[in-house]
This record gives sequence, C-alpha cells and structure tokens, in this order.
Amino acid sequence: MEITDVGQLRDGPLLRAPAGADWDTHAAKEPRIHRIHPYPAKFPAFLAERAINYATSEGVRVRTVGDIFCGCGTVAHEARRLGLGFWGCDINPVATLIARTKSADVCPNEFRQAAVKALRKAHRARADINLAAPARERLERWFRPEQFADLARILNAIRAVAPQPSPLHDALLCTFSAILKPCSQWQVRAIKPTLDLSKEPPDAFATFEKHALNVYQAVEEAGDLSRSPEAVIELGSALQINLPRRGVDLLVSSPPYVTSYEYADLHQLSSLFLGYTDDHRRLRQGSIGSTQHDFRLARGIRDLNRTATRTVFSLYEQDRRAAQSVANYFVDMQAIAVRAKRIVRPGGIAMFVIGNTQYRGVDVDNASHLTESLLLAGFSKIRAIKRTISNKSATPYRTSSGKFSKTRTSNHIYSHEYVLMAHR
Ligand SMILES: C[S@@+](CC[C@H](N)C(=O)[O-])C[C@H]1O[C@@H](n2cnc3c(N)ncnc32)[C@H](O)[C@@H]1O
Repeated sequence: MEITDVGQLRDGPLLRAPAGADWDTHAAKEPRIHRIHPYPAKFPAFLAERAINYATSEGVRVRTVGDIFCGCGTVAHEARRLGLGFWGCDINPVATLIARTKSADVCPNEFRQAAVKALRKAHRARADINLAAPARERLERWFRPEQFADLARILNAIRAVAPQPSPLHDALLCTFSAILKPCSQWQVRAIKPTLDLSKEPPDAFATFEKHALNVYQAVEEAGDLSRSPEAVIELGSALQINLPRRGVDLLVSSPPYVTSYEYADLHQLSSLFLGYTDDHRRLRQGSIGSTQHDFRLARGIRDLNRTATRTVFSLYEQDRRAAQSVANYFVDMQAIAVRAKRIVRPGGIAMFVIGNTQYRGVDVDNASHLTESLLLAGFSKIRAIKRTISNKSATPYRTSSGKFSKTRTSNHIYSHEYVLMAHR
C-alpha cells in the first residue's frame, strides 16, 4: 500500500495494509548478543536486515544506518555485523550502555579473563558504594541488605579491573546491570515496577558468573566486528541532539508509544546502581510517551495534525489528563518526523516499526498519525505493510502489572503492527 497524500488517510487505509509475511518471522535463530540484557519493546533483529534489503531493492546504496530510538542497540549491532556505518541515540543511559556493548568490538577472551578477575576480587571488595541518599534509599527498597552488599562488591571489583571508559568496562557493567532485577525483589516477569517480598533472590556472585558466561558466548558468536566502521551511540533526546552532519542512507527505528512503558522506571535499578542519576524520575524528562509531562491543550492543540486532533478530542471527553498525555506524545512524534527527514539523505528511506495502542478505551492510531506526520514533514511516499507480532497472538491482553493474559477484563494489546517505509 502506498500513501502519497494525507487526504488518503481519511478512511483509515492502514487497516487494509497488506500483510507482509516475510516481515513476520525469520527462520534463523536470533544471535545471542541480542539477549545479553533484557529490554522492553526490543524489536526482532531480523527486521534491520529486512529493512536494508528493502532499501537496496529500491535502489538505495546503504552505507550508513541510523536509529534515533536505538534502545538496546538491535539495529546498531546488525548494521555493524553487516559492515555498515551506524549512528544512533537514545535518551535512556541504560539503553546506550547496552547498545554500546552490543556494537563494540570486544575480545571474548579478554572479557572472560576480566570477568573472572572481577569475580575473584569481588569476594574481598568493599561492600559499599558511593551513592546519594535518595538513590540508596530507593535501592534499599528493592534489595535485601546482603544482596545489596554483594552487588556493591561486584561493582567495585569491575571498576578496579577494567579501564574506564572502555568497551571492556561497558561489557562488564552491562553484565552486572542484567543481573540486578533477578537479584532484587522485583517481581519475576513484571514489566511494571512491582515489589515481591516473598521472592528468594539467587546468590549474586553465582548469578554474575553464570551471566558472564552467557555474555562471553554471545560475544564469541558475534565474531570479529573490527572490520566494520565503529558505531556511534549517543546519549540524548532525538528531539534535540545534533544529528550527524552527513546524514544516513537508511533510518530504522521503533518509536516509543504513549503510556506503554515508562522506560525510566523500568530501568531504575540499573540507572541508580550505576550512578546515572540520583533520582530515576528525572530520567522521564524528555522521554517521549511518558505520561509525566505537562501539556497545555489550549495552547498546543493547533500544533496537532488531523489524526492527532481526532484522537485527542475523543479522549478528552473521557479523561482530560489522558488526552493531554496523548497530545504531548503526538506533538513530539510530529517533531520526530521532521527530524527524520533531516537525518535521511535525499533518496534515502526512513523505516518505522509502529503499532497502535488503546488508552482508556480509545484507540490510539499511532501508525496513521506517524504516516500523516511523515508526509507533512516532506517524505514523498509511505509504503505500509502489516506484520504479525508472533509471540502476542495467544495472549492478547495485559494485566495491570503488565503480564500477558487471556482475560478480556485486562488491557487489550494488538497482535499486529505496521512497517512504514518513508521515501525521501
Ligand atoms: C520501542 S523502544 C526502541 C527499541 C529498539 N528498537 C530496540 O530494539 O532495542 C523506544 C526507545 O525510545 C527511547 N526514547 C524515548 N524518548 C526518547 C527521546 N526523546 N529521544 C531518544 N530516545 C527516546 C526509549 O528510551 C526506548 O529505548
């Protein structure tokens, strides 16, 4: 399906977008490197290669790939694996730590030796770390005292064995960050911060050792990346950060959605323990889709495009605050479309993977909104296809703590999403 004019969006054409079976699944197993650290809303790695193949088939010579919401670096790693240049950013420091680790050229044996050395040192290391009082207080809610002390020992040992900053140090911190939730009282598989005081957390040293082995195997499987250009991963907001001067040939991104994940909250254990912030709530600032921003509807309404206005008004009748959050999200995403046009070189393509959501019973058509925004930003045409989200079809609802569920009373989640290819 091809959309070249915003007028075409009036009767919801995306609902009729053709299914693109080859965008649904991939026969080959995803490389292990993509599982070294959990990340909410990480997208399947094969989509990056599909996007590159699509762009090539459309006559784009892809030498550099970008991702303005790079998350845990799925696209960053894939671009480097395929020998391409990469530029990406994310506002979440835990995301950029993982993304740097996944796209760096780390020697597996060096990593293994450093992990073994850190673990040996950890048993004798100081059991305390320098944290501001609010960060400590917050962490003490999530960890039993003995777990907190053992984790502090591991972190102190990592800092002593690996030079900072270095890819090796990042890889060790990433390994450490990944074991924080399992070693805490964070409820297993909860995707919203949920305390479970009955949980028996495993031994921190054994958990680190086991996960370091996983990371070692993942890095070894990833092989030598040194022949590809180094990936550039920046910490900052896609709305403000300086974009690479020479642009990129292809942008591959999956945007955040309003109200789905509060990334700053979900990564609070890592961002506090690693000292990225003293108060994780501050990291919500600038995060697109956060419900914590203020928005003056009276002043901002005229900035909303047609799809946005329709949705915001439907919501406004039911819940003023929800309407404000959604309006805020839409205004940000409209600015993102303009920035996407700026970062993609003439003749290049911006590809977005985006799904629709529901908020207070109102459908939020993120995909149509982004399509309209991309056209208004100056992209010449948008090709849209529908892809099935394979792991969600059997459990199409979420409970209030975020677990997948089959119960209709829970929040509906969608079994498909859209791939939008915006041609510049
Ligand atoms: C759907 S996730 C991207 C996942 C990514 N494709 C991956 O595979 O890991 C959306 C990301 O947008 C980031 N984000 C939210 N607001 C942002 C902003 N203003 N600038 C840059 N990144 C932002 C979030 O931190 C999150 O990592």
